[in-house]
Amino acid sequence: MKESFSLKDLPYKYDALEPVISKDIVLLHHTKHHNAYVQGANKALGMLESARQEGREIDMKAVLRDLSFNLNGHLLHELYWENMKEYSEENKINTELLEILTKHFNSYDNFQREFETAAKTVEGSGWVVLFKDKEGNLFINQVQNHNLLGIIGFKPILVNDVWEHAYYLDYKNERGEYVERWWDVVNWSVVLDRLKV
Ligand SMILES: [Fe+2]
Repeated sequence: MKESFSLKDLPYKYDALEPVISKDIVLLHHTKHHNAYVQGANKALGMLESARQEGREIDMKAVLRDLSFNLNGHLLHELYWENMKEYSEENKINTELLEILTKHFNSYDNFQREFETAAKTVEGSGWVVLFKDKEGNLFINQVQNHNLLGIIGFKPILVNDVWEHAYYLDYKNERGEYVERWWDVVNWSVVLDRLKV
């Protein structure tokens, strides 16, 4: 196989996000769920590669659907782990980012409310994503599963995973509670860095 993906270590310990997200969830989420997407993406790539080597036809539509689902799942999880950090009671957003968000959403409260509402209303499993376009405009959107409704060419700046596996052990069916508490573990300096690139 020419290309393959791998599961990176988290940039913090498995219990670092407590009490917002428990060690049990982070451990399962990273080593089971995220890992399954990595394996799924590699499997789909392997099927494409072996079909090329052997010059035979495959069910292209199904393989590409698997690749899109699993590879986006892997990439979204990498963004998710990286845009969080160890819990702190006072997780203050930096001034520069605060000004940017205020400019685009009219107030930081508007941004936060819009992001939370988008997260709470994702239909079934999915993600809420803050995107940036080439001109630096910001957009909040939902992604269903891992690969539906994203915006091609827009760069993800901040993502939150609202699949049940991300919160169910701690919050049961209270997705809203998870979404509201999640701000305490957001790594704002990573978000600002992504905005600047
Ligand atoms: Fe997830």
